[in-house]
Amino acid sequence: RVFAKIGPSILNADLSRLAEESQRLLDCGADYIHLDVMDGTFVPNITFGHPLVKCLRRNIPDAFFETHMMVQEPARWIEPTADAGVQLYTFHIEPCSNVVDVCRKVREAGMKVGLGIKPNTSVEAVAEYIDAADMILIMTVEPGFGGQKFMSDMMSKVRWLRSNYPSLDIEVDGGVGLDTINQCAEAGANMIVSGTAVTGSADPKSVITRLRDAVND
Ligand code: DX5
Ligand code: ZN
Repeated sequence: RVFAKIGPSILNADLSRLAEESQRLLDCGADYIHLDVMDGTFVPNITFGHPLVKCLRRNIPDAFFETHMMVQEPARWIEPTADAGVQLYTFHIEPCSNVVDVCRKVREAGMKVGLGIKPNTSVEAVAEYIDAADMILIMTVEPGFGGQKFMSDMMSKVRWLRSNYPSLDIEVDGGVGLDTINQCAEAGANMIVSGTAVTGSADPKSVITRLRDAVND
């Protein structure tokens, strides 16, 4: 069986205090930090890129970092992102015409590779690349912003993946919190990204623990 890993998204945290916020989440039991990189083209928003992640790595030497690359040209940022100390490079298949090639380059750069799909992309579209990837990300909101409503109908994608790939790492991202985690757990997701539900809580440690318990039970 696959075990739950909880990766808080710092998107809606105080980005001017990214290192402190990340460390606080790790101290609260986060298994990894989910870093939302947006380029203003693939999604209608801009956040930050590898220069900031590199500074964050200097402040936090040991944590597992995922960058969620919401960018139009995923191949372009592989080398500098690996150099910034990221372990998992998750990109979207939608803008990409050479997915297998990009996956190979990510691995050659020393990172694991995640493949994400937006809500309107079918799970079959990503299934053909599973052998090239280490993880599949099912978006449960339209990417671009934190704090949106969880899309329950995405759970059929997770269920389909889990039934066909029992040991695959399957990540969900968008609107996941204590009110929606049971749907994710039942469908078979094991990598849980949660933004506002964790960073906006007065007790992030309890939220992280309860998210993990919901998946592992
Ligand atoms: C959305 C991002 C998510 C988001 C998660 O584009 O990829 O990681 O910030 O935040 P919540 O949990 O608030 O939806
Ligand atoms: Zn994300």
